[in-house]
Amino acid sequence: MAKLQARRREFLKFLAASPLLTVSARLLAEETLETSELPDYLISKPEDALDVFDFHSVAKHRLPPAHYGYLATGTDGNETLSANRRAFENVYLRPMRMVDTSEISLKTTLLGQELESPIVLAPVGSQRAFHADAELATARAARAQQHLQILSNVTSNPIEDVIAARGEPVWFQLYPTTQWPTARMMLERAQAAGARVIVLTVDLNSGSNRVLLGQYTRTDDRDCSACHGDHSVEDFLRMNPMYQGSRVTFADFDTSGMTWDYLERIREVSSMKIVVKGIVTREDAASAVAAGADAVYVSNHGGRAEASGWGALESLPEVVEAVNGRVPVMVDSGFRRGTDIFKALALGADAVSIGRAYIWGLAAFGQPGVEKVLEMLKAELRMVMGQVGATSVDEISAMHIGTRG
Ligand SMILES: Cc1cc2nc3c(=O)[nH]c(=O)nc-3n(C[C@H](O)[C@H](O)[C@H](O)COP(=O)(O)O)c2cc1C
Repeated sequence: MAKLQARRREFLKFLAASPLLTVSARLLAEETLETSELPDYLISKPEDALDVFDFHSVAKHRLPPAHYGYLATGTDGNETLSANRRAFENVYLRPMRMVDTSEISLKTTLLGQELESPIVLAPVGSQRAFHADAELATARAARAQQHLQILSNVTSNPIEDVIAARGEPVWFQLYPTTQWPTARMMLERAQAAGARVIVLTVDLNSGSNRVLLGQYTRTDDRDCSACHGDHSVEDFLRMNPMYQGSRVTFADFDTSGMTWDYLERIREVSSMKIVVKGIVTREDAASAVAAGADAVYVSNHGGRAEASGWGALESLPEVVEAVNGRVPVMVDSGFRRGTDIFKALALGADAVSIGRAYIWGLAAFGQPGVEKVLEMLKAELRMVMGQVGATSVDEISAMHIGTRG
């Protein structure tokens, strides 16, 4: 058996190296090769997963160290990364029996858009680092599983192609720079492509200290110039589809001078709704609403922004209170299970985004991996709703949870 597998590997290697093969056939051969090389302690196909962490293990095995480091990283000693997960332990469920939950609906509405579920795909940049099909695989999975997708402006694929693959407009996330013409160019392009919502990320304005990323990167001795050029930000952006035509430089990403009037600038050139992503305090939530934000998005960037040591689920209640129903509240950072998602909905979130969880699926198995992650999270959420006696997203309330301490 082992001999047969070895010969098969040799053959696939030969096929993959043959210049006679088309690119897609070659990728296919490589993917099959990857699958056959997975050690026994890892799942070899998405259907075998018990929870999303099974995809994490495969992703870690498959990705080159620097790419895994990019995915996994936190800041400083990973204080916020850990706090994000720990926060879920402090909230418990209050199951209620004998409620008819034979029919459960996950449908909801967000900024006037009808959604099949409140689970959203967070913007994650440079997805080619995780799979050759990158954001297109994510979009196809989002389409198959009917989820809202938010596209990063550091996407590996142009927004037009991603929208075509998704089959409907995605939301477009923007990292501001000090070069307004670059922002304007992207806003106009996103709107022309069909995007109706812009997600402005405001939590990296003063940089972030990504120690874990550095630790993985220094163990990676591959020649990465084909994708990363000379490793300068300028070279990276030159190869990035959404920055074509921009003159932005590394220094321009220092947006420490940015204030709330940036929303007004966006409104001057775009009619897209504006979601402000990266809010964690009641003060900022109030300012965002006052500045005309159409939704507030609680996030600490998955523990990749500052080492606050404050979990996103812990910041959610004060933001919900400050917003007081005036606009929707979204949240992400650390969500891995249906129970996690349920807890945020019970604390008042209108939608919950996932980042690493779906990227683990992408890195592990491409589109089918992302699909399975989404399918599992919905099934888990439905199960929790059944256990606590809530038949719709609207019915989920503070009554269904308790807080320790
Ligand atoms: C590899 C990676 C890349 C990311 N890129 C972006 C990005 O381009 N824009 C953005 O607003 N957030 C980005 N984020 C943050 C996510 O949108 C989201 O806030 C975070 O992943 C949520 O935490 P989770 O990964 O624990 O689910 C990225 C996160 C990861 C893991």
